[in-house]
Amino acid sequence: MRDLLADLADVGRDPRRGGYSRHGFDRAELELREWFTAEALRRDLGVRTDRNGNLWAWWGEPGADAVVTGSHLDSVPGGGAFDGPLGVTTALEAVDVLRAKGFTPARPLAVVVFAEEEGGRFGVPCLGTRLLTGAIDADAARRLTDPDGVTLAEAVADAGLDPARLGRDDEALATVGRFVELHVEQGRGLVDLDAAVGVASSILAHGRWRFTFSGEGNHAGATLLGDRRDPMLPASALVLAARRAASHVDDARATVGRLVPNPGGTNVIASTVDVWLDARAPDSPRTRAVVEEIAAAARAAATEEGCSVTVTEESYGDTVHFDAGLRDELAGVLGGVPALPTGAGHDAGILAAHVPTAMLFVRNPTGVSHAPAEHAEPADCAAGVVALAAALERLAG
Ligand code: GLV
Ligand code: MN
Ligand code: MN
Repeated sequence: MRDLLADLADVGRDPRRGGYSRHGFDRAELELREWFTAEALRRDLGVRTDRNGNLWAWWGEPGADAVVTGSHLDSVPGGGAFDGPLGVTTALEAVDVLRAKGFTPARPLAVVVFAEEEGGRFGVPCLGTRLLTGAIDADAARRLTDPDGVTLAEAVADAGLDPARLGRDDEALATVGRFVELHVEQGRGLVDLDAAVGVASSILAHGRWRFTFSGEGNHAGATLLGDRRDPMLPASALVLAARRAASHVDDARATVGRLVPNPGGTNVIASTVDVWLDARAPDSPRTRAVVEEIAAAARAAATEEGCSVTVTEESYGDTVHFDAGLRDELAGVLGGVPALPTGAGHDAGILAAHVPTAMLFVRNPTGVSHAPAEHAEPADCAAGVVALAAALERLAG
């Protein structure tokens, strides 16, 4: 078995941040799509791009009640090599394993690459599956912009898709009978359990909120402290409130990973600051309570500095409990591997509202993810391929 992940090692490297920056429909992601298409065709899989830019490679004729596996090829800015691509390369390798043992699926089987899973370019995670399932309004999606002001509509048009056809795709969704996504684990759960592979039990409720603080742009040297309306102050208060609010709630997390002052000069008091909050907790009431506490602190700090603030919810997803029957069936097929919850979002979580869905995790010795230190040993990746092949054999046999 050849390690397909090695083929991707040079695509989308980010010399400034380290790791990889591959975003929906950018040059690196399009190159990876071309690579995927070539690998699928090499395997005599029939490749189709759906209306939302998701790529499907079919073993057999596309049809209802298919077993579908796959993941995404985009990354966060400066991300690791495994989050996403491992689920795609292992899916193709699992097809090879099944072919080598003479298996023929009794129902259609497809390997899928979902578009813009991380939301690293247009801000909304799992964009491909949100569009496919209608979880995001197509007009709102078309208007999403990347940091350079390019709209999603323009980006998909550049990639050869018709932006008018973005949106809920019942025909494509109806083909999916069951979905299984293999993913590198994004914590140390499997390390602690001394297991190479596990299955997922649940995903935390999570969402993203944009806070825009407005004050008065002015001179850093000439403006007396008492005369300032500096939006960086309430923005900083938000960062500290996020840690404080999450620490009050069991298993909650709140993060500011992106803060953009405008215009962004060292000797300039910013006129506005955009801050993106990522908040997660075991359920919606707790997630909402964390966000409300942070928003209240942000509003109070804005008022104190003579600034204003607007809050926009950019995406949200409730807690996902993966189909217990499918989870237990696959854990059993894999010899009783452990089930783990995760704090990370996945396309599998979006699809879980529509079809029985499962995830397989591969051990990550560093426990780090969304950063270059993300890792999985080749032997564990191979164990993942064997596990995924066994799962597909069971489900499509
Ligand atoms: C995606 O990996 C997320 O959890 O944000
Ligand atoms: Mn990710
Ligand atoms: Mn992922």
